[in-house]
Amino acid sequence: MSLESEIKKRRTFAIISHPDAGKTTLTEKFLLYGGAINLAGSVKGKKTAKHAVSDWMEIEKERGISVTSSVLQFNYEGYCINILDTPGHEDFSEDTYRTLMAADSAVMVIDASKGVEKQTIKLFKVCVMRHIPIFTFINKMDREANDPFELLDEIESVLGIATCPINWPIGCGKEFKGVYDRKEKNVSLFKAAMNGQKEVDTEIVDASDEAVLKDRIGDAFYDKLQEDIELLDGASAEFDQEMVSAGDLTPVFFGSALTNFGVQTFLEHFLSMTTSPLPRKSDQGVIDPFTEDFSAFVFKIQANMNKAHRDRIAFMRICSGKFEAGMEANHVQGGKKIRLSQPQQMMAEERHIVDAGDIIGVFDPGIFSIGDTICKSNKKFTFEGIPTFAPEHFARVRQIDTMKRKQFIKGINQIAQEGAIQIFQEFNTGMEEIIVGVVGVLQFEVLEYRLKNEYGVDIRLEPLPYEHIRWIENPEEIDVNRIVGTSDMKKIKDLKGNPLLVFANSWSVNMVLERNEGLKLSEFGRN
Ligand code: G4P
Repeated sequence: MSLESEIKKRRTFAIISHPDAGKTTLTEKFLLYGGAINLAGSVKGKKTAKHAVSDWMEIEKERGISVTSSVLQFNYEGYCINILDTPGHEDFSEDTYRTLMAADSAVMVIDASKGVEKQTIKLFKVCVMRHIPIFTFINKMDREANDPFELLDEIESVLGIATCPINWPIGCGKEFKGVYDRKEKNVSLFKAAMNGQKEVDTEIVDASDEAVLKDRIGDAFYDKLQEDIELLDGASAEFDQEMVSAGDLTPVFFGSALTNFGVQTFLEHFLSMTTSPLPRKSDQGVIDPFTEDFSAFVFKIQANMNKAHRDRIAFMRICSGKFEAGMEANHVQGGKKIRLSQPQQMMAEERHIVDAGDIIGVFDPGIFSIGDTICKSNKKFTFEGIPTFAPEHFARVRQIDTMKRKQFIKGINQIAQEGAIQIFQEFNTGMEEIIVGVVGVLQFEVLEYRLKNEYGVDIRLEPLPYEHIRWIENPEEIDVNRIVGTSDMKKIKDLKGNPLLVFANSWSVNMVLERNEGLKLSEFGRN
């Protein structure tokens, strides 16, 4: 098969949701339809059998959750699908955000009884920033659910994206009767498929067949459905592929991942509406995925996959061409030619073609940083950088044994380079005071654990009250020293000396903007 047709088969997406909405269950059901599975990393602990491919950190095992994101590959109906898993626990980290930089589209899973939840909003913002297509699966219809119209309203008002329901639920919970397909104008009757079964043959009834449909769902649900259809046809946005591709309209599906109802329909529609790998921006113009020359960027660095070595694995998203194990390529930021060895993808039983759209994890002797570009061609370029995402938890960090200053500085800098934490300093002083910022509080534990285990340094963390951080977008235009703050605001700087502001309350952000004309603040840091 030609390179072009291989790449066109690729669908690389991330699943975003609030914990417990059903991301893992949905992923497991997707796998039922797929064939061979290639794992680079792990699906997620809990009840999944496909845990560790490699040794994960102790914390992860103890907590039974996934600290780092992973990728999972399967084939379905001629598509080669890469699912980028995003840690679903409350304590998710910056890796979760970065994973979205490697995806071409996102599936948003929403619990029908909860609606749009906090974590979904955060992840959704990153998808919007990238203008990638977003597909919504409203899950758990087999349980009591919110009114579907209200759910759509909530998505539109809270997330600010237009919705287009592809199917429509009839009842919910014990009274869940099935879903109406708006295009085909038929009803799939609900039937639960439990215990890892593929979707059982559901009966499909033509919606115009009033007698049969009334017999199956009852008069009351029949009447309600007619009303809903009329309302939907009048009020909801029409399906528009261009708007979907631009991330301005989300196709919405209702179903139940646990009972495997609506999953296959979702998967099939999703695969046809989503996109194969798209060109990516670089400083030398757009890089076409179909160009022969291999290129990739690093979106995640994971330390300690193998406890015996202090290895790191750099996860890369391939943006063009084809990867060959042991190949030589330019590491642009490092200014060197390197050999890409030990790709994680190759751990699968069968040899696999790895091209644009795929994710590989390669051995990293400590040379890569998040956002680095690797390219085969001699015309060197760098892909658009990965932004720094706003940490939400801050702590002052001190080493307990002051004699271990060197190890402490080395360790904390290396961990920051991997992107697990961000380090800051007081605005007007030097390195003696270190402030650590993290996206998820679990990263504090990871930091403490790793400094002790890998660098022999014990630390004390003093939590700071800040929850919001803003980068100053125009430091050259204003005098940072003269910014008028609020009592709960603090000026800090990152390692590159960029000034930032941290706030304990979100209202202070607006207050400071009002008090300082011309000041521009951003939630994403520049690289
Ligand atoms: P997550 O990855 O998004 O965190 O969610 P996960 O799939 O682990 O699902 C969270 C819980 O919701 C699980 O129950 C799961 O069985 C349940 N669930 C997922 N999809 C559906 C659905 O369509 N319908 C219903 N009724 N439940 C669903 P749990 O309480 O964590 O496990 P268990 O004790 O029920 O086994």
